[in-house]
Amino acid sequence: MNVKIKGLLYSGKAKDILETDDPEVVAIRFRDDITAGDGEKKDTLEMKGYYNSLISAKIFEVLEDAGVATQYLELHEPGCILARRLEMIPLEVITRNIAAGSIVRRFPFREGQEFRPPLIQIDYKSDEHGDPMLNDDIILALGLATREELDEIRSITLRINDVLTEFFRSRSLVLPDFKLEFGRDSNGDIRLGDEISPDTCRLWDMATGEPLDKDIFRRGESGVVSAYRRVAEMILDPEDIERWKVKL
Ligand SMILES: Nc1ncnc2c1ncn2[C@@H]1O[C@H](COP(=O)(O)OP(=O)(O)OP(=O)(O)O)[C@@H](O)[C@H]1O
Ligand SMILES: [Mg+2]
Repeated sequence: MNVKIKGLLYSGKAKDILETDDPEVVAIRFRDDITAGDGEKKDTLEMKGYYNSLISAKIFEVLEDAGVATQYLELHEPGCILARRLEMIPLEVITRNIAAGSIVRRFPFREGQEFRPPLIQIDYKSDEHGDPMLNDDIILALGLATREELDEIRSITLRINDVLTEFFRSRSLVLPDFKLEFGRDSNGDIRLGDEISPDTCRLWDMATGEPLDKDIFRRGESGVVSAYRRVAEMILDPEDIERWKVKL
């Protein structure tokens, strides 16, 4: 795709969103910054953004191939993807297959217990309000999404869970939970936006059960970037490495 990347539209905690000469296309630049606990814990880890961009691009391609409507256009270069500009809906749509993290602290679930069917939890994406958990009535009353949009978001999310659970399983990874963000494209249609990476998913090595995701950082342990690199090695095919001209 031949677009020129222009000025910064928005800078979040881990990514920069840049304008291009096509008003419907943005460049998403994955930075090396990593945060946890609402930004209380912060660091910059060299190459983290590089691996996350490759992992995200690969997963968006897997989803597009499965017929899921996403923002994804292409990997522009390692560290940066081109995406459709979306009007983001400030919801964090979390799918849980196995109990871990905040759900175990907040409710009497047993760590590691399986959720069948999976749980969908929707939080308000608002640092100011501390990302509180929502319900449908609150979402509708706040005007964050319509009833139809909410139903569609849930059904796309369940489909994404099926596709990703199977994809990761085929790469010897377990997907306990993950967070999605959706937006509206220029036609008003719902598409998956943002990123899917070890910053936004729990991913466990199927053989050893060890985490290969941001939990390593949350626990203050070392080896975050080498775990992310390992995920990239496990999910990228030789053809991806070749066409993207990347080194892992
Ligand atoms: N396709 C897209 N078009 C427009 N904005 C997007 C798109 N995909 C993601 N975004 C938004 O860009 C920002 C991504 O940056 P990042 O993840 O670093 O931010 P954040 O810290 O999660 O969010 P924020 O700073 O908004 O609280 C988020 O606000 C996200 O909703
Ligand atoms: Mg984010």
